[in-house]
Amino acid sequence: MKRYRLAVIPGDGIGREVIPEGIKVLQAAGRRFNFGIDTVEFPWSCAYYLQHGEMMPADGLATLRDFAAIYLGAIGDPRVPDHVSLWGLLLRIRKAFDLYANVRPIRLLEGIASPLAGRTPADVDILFVRENTEGEYSGLGGRLNAGTPHEVALQTTAFTHRATKRILTYAFDAARARRKRLAHVTKSNALQYTAVMWDEVAEDVARDYPDVQVRKLHVDAAAYQMVLHPDWFDVMVGSNLFADILTDLGAALQGSLGLAASANLDPTRAAPSMFEPVHGSAPDIAGKGIANPMAAIWTASMMLEHLGETVAAAAVFDALRQVVRSAEVRTPDLGGRGTTTQVGDAVVEALRA
Ligand code: NAD
Ligand code: IPM
Ligand code: MN
Repeated sequence: MKRYRLAVIPGDGIGREVIPEGIKVLQAAGRRFNFGIDTVEFPWSCAYYLQHGEMMPADGLATLRDFAAIYLGAIGDPRVPDHVSLWGLLLRIRKAFDLYANVRPIRLLEGIASPLAGRTPADVDILFVRENTEGEYSGLGGRLNAGTPHEVALQTTAFTHRATKRILTYAFDAARARRKRLAHVTKSNALQYTAVMWDEVAEDVARDYPDVQVRKLHVDAAAYQMVLHPDWFDVMVGSNLFADILTDLGAALQGSLGLAASANLDPTRAAPSMFEPVHGSAPDIAGKGIANPMAAIWTASMMLEHLGETVAAAAVFDALRQVVRSAEVRTPDLGGRGTTTQVGDAVVEALRA
């Protein structure tokens, strides 16, 4: 029997509530499809930071390297500045492991009333590909004359040709495997260096994909059209920050952040890929047991797919869809009165049937 070693980082807030549901579902999938999931849980989080003064130990990255994959909940706690917690853990892992393709499916599932009147699942089925290692998140910058009226804050956006080309290539490949339409998100009217290079690379890569229909949209127009015409889009690709924002918009199109899944992939498989829902630690609802675990469960399905357990991945997604469709158990974000655990149990039940 095949066994997979997973590094589990529940993190903070609702991360600690949704991840156990995802693991329950993974274990159930393993029982049904005959593979084993061995989890090692790491307490790295803001609570860990408050105790140890760091988000993870010095050898944390080296420890993670040996795992088949990383399953992460969410990081963030009002007691720790967000840039400290996120740069200390989540962003650090994405960068150190060069997890360059952040893949985020935006699908309206059957049974969910879209916030867009009249839209059905056929209208909302987008695969968003996000550059995940540089751009606006390059981490270059500094502050000068801090605390004085002469203070200067610099946050430098760096686009390399290499990373731009590889993410666009990844997106074109994804489009070729789907409905052969690619929209790339730019802002080359205002950003005359980075975004203009992005456009040039997009045109260059497009030459190798004559079968893929390409549309170029400035990010402001992309936000507008995603709301009015989600059906225009198949694969979308954008830089780190643009795609961060547009995928929360995408989560709204899906009906809730509680349904938005995400995978940080190293397509070369040199490092373990990391799977985490799009949402954060949601301090406003943390501790109440009402967080929607569906995003975490969908994310777990993406992890199975990446591990090569494609039949199990599809079965988990089908079980999730069945629970969504039946509408018997739903958390408050979807208008229900169910709990996190009840939703997880329902998916396990559907997976058994
Ligand atoms: P958030 O995603 O945590 O919450 C936004 C809103 O969506 C909140 O009203 C929340 O209750 C709701 N929501 C999110 N997930 C939900 C779920 N599964 N079920 C039901 N409702 C859900 O975003 P935020 O409030 O901007 O950030 C809170 C903290 O999380 C911050 O510290 C932020 O930095 C961090 N954050 C972490 C990650 C991550 O670790 N991947 C992602 C985003 C934000
Ligand atoms: C996400 C999150 C992170 C990001 C934050 C928490 C740094 O919003 O994964 O979408 O911006 O990448
Ligand atoms: Mn985000």
